[in-house]
Amino acid sequence: MSTRHLLSIADLSPEEIGFVVTRAMEMKRNGHGAPLAGKSVALLFEKPSLRTKVSFDVGIQQLGGHPIYMGRDEVGLGGREPVADVARVLCRYVDAIVARVFAHRTLAEMAKHSTAPVINALSDAEHPCQTLADLLTIRERKGNLAGLAIAFIGDGNNVSASLALGAASVGASFVIASPEGYDLPAGVMAQARRIAAAHGGAVRQARRPQEAAAGADVVYTDVWVSMGDEAEAEARRKAFKGYQVNLDLMRQAKPDAIFMHDLPAHQGEEISAGMLEHPQSVVFDQAENRLHAQKAALELLVR
Ligand code: NVA
Repeated sequence: MSTRHLLSIADLSPEEIGFVVTRAMEMKRNGHGAPLAGKSVALLFEKPSLRTKVSFDVGIQQLGGHPIYMGRDEVGLGGREPVADVARVLCRYVDAIVARVFAHRTLAEMAKHSTAPVINALSDAEHPCQTLADLLTIRERKGNLAGLAIAFIGDGNNVSASLALGAASVGASFVIASPEGYDLPAGVMAQARRIAAAHGGAVRQARRPQEAAAGADVVYTDVWVSMGDEAEAEARRKAFKGYQVNLDLMRQAKPDAIFMHDLPAHQGEEISAGMLEHPQSVVFDQAENRLHAQKAALELLVR
C-alpha cells in the first residue's frame, strides 16, 4: 500500500475531509481509543509555533503515541543534512513526520523519500491542518458546511489557499478579498474552482472587503505578514490598509455570521481591537479544534 501524505488539503478527497470532520466531532464528544499506541511521530519545525506544536504533541499522546519534537537548529534540515536523507532516516524510526517548513518543496522532497506519512504543519503554500480545524468549527456552529458563504479578507497566503480548497471540497462558497498583487496563486484558484464545480461549491475573487463580506456566514482573516515575509512587512502593511476585519465590516455579513482567525492576531492591523472578544468570534474554539481535527487526521493517516 502506498504511503498517504497530507501536504495539501486536496490530498484528502472531499469524502475524507467530511469523514475527518465528523470523526473529530465524535472524538471530541465521546473520546477515543489509542490508535497510536506503540507509535512515534516526529515533529520537525523550522518556524515558531504555539497551537500546532502543542496540539500535535498533546494529541499524539492522547492517542497513545509518542511525539518527538525537533526545532530548527537540532536537525538543520537541508543544511546540516539533505532533506532526502533526513526523511529516509526518520521514517526508519517513526510512524509519521509532522513538519513545519519555509518552502513547500521541502515537504514534497520529504514525502518523496519517506515511507511514513508526511503531514504539513504549515508551509509557505498551505496550512491543511488549520483548514480541518476551521471546517470542524464552522460545522459545530452552523450544523453543516455545504452552501455556506465563507469570506476571507486579506492575503492570498497558505491559510487562505487551504481554506479555498477545503471550502470547495465541502460544497461551500468561498470568496477572497485581497489587494492587487496579493491574490491567491492562479493555480490554487483554478484547482479550487475545479473541485467546487464537482461538489456544488463556488470560488471567487473580490477586491473590496465589503463586497466579500456581504451576506457571509463566515468572515475570516489572517495576518498581513506571514512567517518568512518579514522583509516585505512595510510594503504589506501599506497594501493591506483597509483590509481590516472590524465592527463595520462584520455588519456587512449575516447577523449570525461567525468571525474566524487562525492566530496569532495583530490588533490594529488585520483586526480592530476587541474582535477576538466579539460575541460572534469563535477564534478560541477554532484554536481548540486544532487538537480534535488533527487527532482525527492522525487516526486516518498513521498505520
Ligand atoms: N499565514 C500565517 C499563519 C500562521 C499560523 C503564517 O504563515 O505565518
